[in-house]
Amino acid sequence: MTRLFRTFIQGFDEEIEGGIPQGHVVLVAGPPGTMKSSLAYSILYNNAVEEGVPGVYVTMEQDRDSLEFQVSKMGLDPKKVAEKVRVQDLSRIRRGVEELRGTARFGTAGEKPWLDVLKRHLEDVKATEDFFLLVLDSLPILEIISGLRERRVGLFHFFGWLKSLKVTSFVISEVAPEAASVRDEDFLADGILSLTMDRVGELDVYRRIRCVKMRGVNHNPGIFTLEFRDRAFRVTRVI
Ligand SMILES: Nc1ncnc2c1ncn2[C@@H]1O[C@H](COP(=O)(O)OP(=O)(O)OP(=O)(O)O)[C@@H](O)[C@H]1O
Ligand SMILES: [Mg+2]
Repeated sequence: MTRLFRTFIQGFDEEIEGGIPQGHVVLVAGPPGTMKSSLAYSILYNNAVEEGVPGVYVTMEQDRDSLEFQVSKMGLDPKKVAEKVRVQDLSRIRRGVEELRGTARFGTAGEKPWLDVLKRHLEDVKATEDFFLLVLDSLPILEIISGLRERRVGLFHFFGWLKSLKVTSFVISEVAPEAASVRDEDFLADGILSLTMDRVGELDVYRRIRCVKMRGVNHNPGIFTLEFRDRAFRVTRVI
């Protein structure tokens, strides 16, 4: 039996047969401000609090303080899970890597070995302090800093590497799958959670979530309204 990791979005896990299968690479896709980072963090947070599952959150867009401030505003307490949810921003990873440079494990400065740096870093963390959930926030920034030239080939190898890590990962991406033409990562990912903000009538805007795909899961592909209230995400069905 494959282990399932709950999203802890109330009303949503039952729509995806209980949770996200272990080892899946899941895109969390959506335009700015759709709470991609908050949702991904809350999945790690709740799995740590409720199930004792360790996770790593790599934040590339905002630094660790900014992310922790945002989730504190939501009533979550990052200190409570400091041992279980490790938030690492690029400056922290770079520092770790500079310590390793002495051992000549990485190329010389200026070579732009960022993707290798990140991979080595996560492999080291996995080997020393095992973790089961990973968030990479975000794919567009990863592409920029890694200087991915052949996007299609680069992504293929990167997703392959992610799968080989044998953690369940959430890769934050900015493009809503149904908005533009289908992108390579949509095929490469095992699952896609799409977050949107939809205008309803003249004045109202609602947050929405949809499980676009989840390999091996008989999921509900419908659109749900997503709310964050009383420190929890919850969905209701759009009628
Ligand atoms: N209770 C709350 N506390 C704080 N922010 C909240 C709350 N409820 C909703 N939000 C909203 O969450 C949004 C930020 O969420 P988040 O940073 O996770 O989004 P994002 O999709 O990752 O955005 P970006 O594309 O900029 O990275 C803000 O627009 C904020 O208004
Ligand atoms: Mg974000």
